[in-house]
Amino acid sequence: MGSIRSLVRMQLMILFNVILTVKASTPAVAKPGCPSHCGDVIIPYPFGTGGDCNITAGFFINCNTSFIPHKPFFLNVEVINISTDGQLRILSNTSYDCYNTTSYRNWLFYYFRLSEFLINNNKNKFTAIGCDTYALVQQAGSYGQRYATGCLSFCNNITDVSNGSCSGIGCCQTSIPKDVRSYSISLASYANHTNVLPENPCSYAFVAEVDSYNFSASDLRGFEFQSRQFPITLDWNIGNTSCNEANMDVNNFACKEYSKCVDSENNSGYLCKCLEGYGGNPYLPNGCQDINECESMSPCNGTARCINLPGTYNCSCPVGYEGDGKKSGTGCSLPNKDQSKTSPLIVALGVAIGFLGLLLGIVLWCWMLRQRQISKLREANFQQNGGILLREQLSKRQGYREDVKVFTAEELEKATNNYNESRILGQGGQGTVYKGILADNQIVAIKKSIIGDPSQVEQFINEIMVLYKINHRNVVKLLGCCLETQVPLLVYEYITNRTLFHHLHNDDATSYLSWETRLRIATETAEALSYLHSAASIPIIHRDIKLANILLDDNYTAKVSDFGASRLIPSDQAQITTIVQGTFG
Ligand SMILES: *[C@@H]1O[C@H](CO)[C@@H](O)[C@H](O)[C@H]1NC(C)=O
Ligand SMILES: *[C@@H]1O[C@H](CO)[C@@H](O)[C@H](O)[C@H]1NC(C)=O
Ligand SMILES: *[C@@H]1O[C@H](CO)[C@@H](O)[C@H](O)[C@H]1NC(C)=O
Ligand SMILES: *[C@@H]1O[C@H](CO)[C@@H](O)[C@H](O)[C@H]1NC(C)=O
Ligand SMILES: *[C@@H]1O[C@H](CO)[C@@H](O)[C@H](O)[C@H]1NC(C)=O
Ligand SMILES: *[C@@H]1O[C@H](CO)[C@@H](O)[C@H](O)[C@H]1NC(C)=O
Ligand SMILES: *[C@@H]1O[C@H](CO)[C@@H](O)[C@H](O)[C@H]1NC(C)=O
Ligand SMILES: *[C@@H]1O[C@H](CO)[C@@H](O)[C@H](O)[C@H]1NC(C)=O
Ligand SMILES: *[C@@H]1O[C@H](CO)[C@@H](O)[C@H](O)[C@H]1NC(C)=O
Ligand SMILES: *[C@@H]1O[C@H](CO)[C@@H](O)[C@H](O)[C@H]1NC(C)=O
Ligand SMILES: *[C@@H]1O[C@H](CO)[C@@H](O)[C@H](O)[C@H]1NC(C)=O
Ligand SMILES: *[C@@H]1O[C@H](CO)[C@@H](O)[C@H](O)[C@H]1NC(C)=O
Repeated sequence: MGSIRSLVRMQLMILFNVILTVKASTPAVAKPGCPSHCGDVIIPYPFGTGGDCNITAGFFINCNTSFIPHKPFFLNVEVINISTDGQLRILSNTSYDCYNTTSYRNWLFYYFRLSEFLINNNKNKFTAIGCDTYALVQQAGSYGQRYATGCLSFCNNITDVSNGSCSGIGCCQTSIPKDVRSYSISLASYANHTNVLPENPCSYAFVAEVDSYNFSASDLRGFEFQSRQFPITLDWNIGNTSCNEANMDVNNFACKEYSKCVDSENNSGYLCKCLEGYGGNPYLPNGCQDINECESMSPCNGTARCINLPGTYNCSCPVGYEGDGKKSGTGCSLPNKDQSKTSPLIVALGVAIGFLGLLLGIVLWCWMLRQRQISKLREANFQQNGGILLREQLSKRQGYREDVKVFTAEELEKATNNYNESRILGQGGQGTVYKGILADNQIVAIKKSIIGDPSQVEQFINEIMVLYKINHRNVVKLLGCCLETQVPLLVYEYITNRTLFHHLHNDDATSYLSWETRLRIATETAEALSYLHSAASIPIIHRDIKLANILLDDNYTAKVSDFGASRLIPSDQAQITTIVQGTFG
């Protein structure tokens, strides 16, 4: 049982480790399927160990597996570090020229040749040590030019030599020119070291990184220095064209996503660099990855919260604090005292004003919306109620009365106290009549027609047109109309004394018409009809003459009304067949 439990635990631990390792995996440095390391040295693409792992043959790294740990070699020299910034560090051997007696000389002159890369002239120096030493370094440039430089070092007695300083006593140094691709070293002596033997049997010379060697007098003794190796920094770059040219050859362009191309400073060719805020290998697809600045450098000041963004980061100060929140910037601080004293008031005022503004805005907006709706409705009503027809009619005919007015819906609403029932004067077959008081205190009768279906529109317009034409003492005068409401409205002069029907048929005998008056009313009605039939420019036939349609004013003057059923007879038509319309009676 115990063994099973421990097995399970072990498996869980392995699983856990796998998960953790996967999570902590570093961004790719080499191409997929290619070794990222040779021994302790990381081999980042474009360098590689053969096949497709290196971008070109010039970036081949020979990983020699007969060493433990394995050792990488570049052109037969050992590599100690490769950086994607464009530098490659190798180990160079020391040249020597040794004598154990005046007659026995043992020497090795080292030479080093690169094809594509350059020896970084800033980071490397040529150094020679010895007390009887001529040292010469010959260099070959990119185009085969040859340079030679060197230094001399002499000392009579090795006890004169001091540690640390390389100033011509036992040690000398010189810089190397730029644009150097290869070098060879030669050494010579003035007296075969006879004067300094046995303390200093050898002369040594090497090219090395500036800080990699500190002179020590003890290096002059013995032969051990022969096997010393020193690092050299080389500059590498891709191809031999500039970024602009390389960019055009899309298939072979080495710079991948989130990277930029940088022309090589001292060589033909270019390098790739990840964009700011990104890190990784710019030569690999998906090589440049966003740097989580919040984790890697915690750039925000104490209380500020760090937010990682693609390529950058943001620091946000806690509520109530101001500043950029960055360690390197202004940090987060409370707003200064003066402001903080006035700020609650200002803030409150600001909020209040803002709120009021918002409220006002909403109300205004709603109102505007409503107005638009209303005006839209009115326009629609106007069209439905034959407004267009009316307009057409008006434009066709001339010589009408000028004082006919088109009222707005609002005006009439006001005049009738919103169509209050107490204002109803009468209800007929074609509509309801309200008493209205206009803004100028003029009393009018407002007829609300009942026309629901479009076929009645013509009839309605007809009435308007008929009345529009007429100006007769015994015909009710049309003052205007309103088409904006759902039901069209006609505005007439207000006839004060009700209908003839009312006066003849009133049972309570409050009204009494003399025969004289009755005769006059009949005459006036006849006159009106006669006028309508003959005097008007186009004959009008009322078709619905009845007591209820004859109104009386205070003087019992007859006023013919309700022209809804009237017809206009063109004057060239002598005869027209027509029937009585409206109420039979
Ligand atoms: C190579 O150099 C980089 C920095 O340039 C460093 O991070 C890395 O550890 C070095 N690798 C070796 C193997 O020296
Ligand atoms: C990588 O280097 C090797 C050895 O020089 C070479 O054979 C190979 O072709 C190179 N790979 C590419 C893709 O050039
Ligand atoms: C590895 O190094 C050993 C010893 O220096 C050498 O004999 C051998 O040829 C090298 N192998 C390769 C593949 O370069
Ligand atoms: C440099 O020296 C080492 C051992 O001291 C030797 O194995 C190697 O071959 C030498 N390299 C060259 C290029 O002479
Ligand atoms: C000098 O060195 C050589 C080779 O190491 C040796 O054969 C010779 O005996 C040495 N001479 C003296 C005087 O030590
Ligand atoms: C070198 O100097 C030391 C002490 O200064 C002296 O003892 C020695 O004899 C000198 N050697 C020679 C060869 O002059
Ligand atoms: C020089 O340094 C070495 C060790 O690097 C030391 O053994 C020697 O005594 C020093 N010599 C002088 C003169 O300081
Ligand atoms: C130095 O040694 C060479 C042989 O290695 C010899 O020909 C020459 O004469 C010697 N010079 C002196 C000054 O001893
Ligand atoms: C040489 O000395 C400098 C400072 O004195 C030191 O920084 C450097 O590490 C030393 N180099 C070596 C190889 O000891
Ligand atoms: C650039 O490199 C290509 C191939 O690596 C080579 O064929 C060409 O001659 C080179 N051009 C120059 C100007 O060095
Ligand atoms: C190019 O040369 C200049 C001048 O010598 C030097 O300052 C610079 O560091 C060099 N650039 C590279 C990448 O080696
Ligand atoms: C935060 O910012 C303030 C103001 O710039 C500064 O005084 C303080 O030292 C910063 N604190 C930290 C932890 O960086």
